[in-house]
Amino acid sequence: MTKIILALDFSDKKTAMKLVDNIDPAIFSLKVGPVMFIRYGLKFIKELHCLNFNVFLDLKLFDIPNTIFSAVQSVADLGIWMLSVHILGGSDMLKAAKSAIKSYKDNPPLLIGVTVLTSYSNNDLRSIGISSSIAEQVYLLSNIGKLCFLDGVVCSGKECRQIKNKFGENFKVVSPGFRLHGDQLHDQLQITTLETIKEDKIDFLVLGRSITLSKDPVTSLKNFIKIISK
Ligand code: C5P
Repeated sequence: MTKIILALDFSDKKTAMKLVDNIDPAIFSLKVGPVMFIRYGLKFIKELHCLNFNVFLDLKLFDIPNTIFSAVQSVADLGIWMLSVHILGGSDMLKAAKSAIKSYKDNPPLLIGVTVLTSYSNNDLRSIGISSSIAEQVYLLSNIGKLCFLDGVVCSGKECRQIKNKFGENFKVVSPGFRLHGDQLHDQLQITTLETIKEDKIDFLVLGRSITLSKDPVTSLKNFIKIISK
């Protein structure tokens, strides 16, 4: 069963807490990225932990191996449940990230590699000198992630099945950019749909603006749960 991660990309904590205070940590995990982490920092993470939420710290780390090693240790010290690094940082960087969490025997964070941002088109890839298609690039980067012992990857739902078929059901797929039919796409191009969730067995679905920008996010979330449970 796909688990749900709610993306807290609010620039105002009060608005975020209106939603957080009305959801069950047994059902939802929370994703904190640069928007809220830069503004509210460690204190905010601790508050979410006090409310028993698993926190995915989505900072998409990308740096030289030595810096990544220390950064990942700092993240693990916070008791974070899942963290992201860019696979484009390369094998040495990924191995440094992996070795940084080796000493955390009890509940080490899940180390998840970002493949291609879901806001990218094939043309965007070409514009930065990558001639592969999105699907090929996601596959290539996932292979590097797997070889470096990451726990899984972030990619759109479209790529989920090929990743699972090739790298095994235990290699986690985290898919953002979810949209219901008729939802506004905003900047997302590689969207994940209801059909993909049901057919392709995504491990973690990231829900963002399709819920958080709705008039009543709590009700939208309840309705969403009803829809996917059918
Ligand atoms: O609002 P929306 O549903 O587009 O939210 C997607 C969330 O997933 C954002 O928090 C964004 O930072 C994150 N994300 C993404 N694409 C990736 C990795 C993470 O959109 N490849």
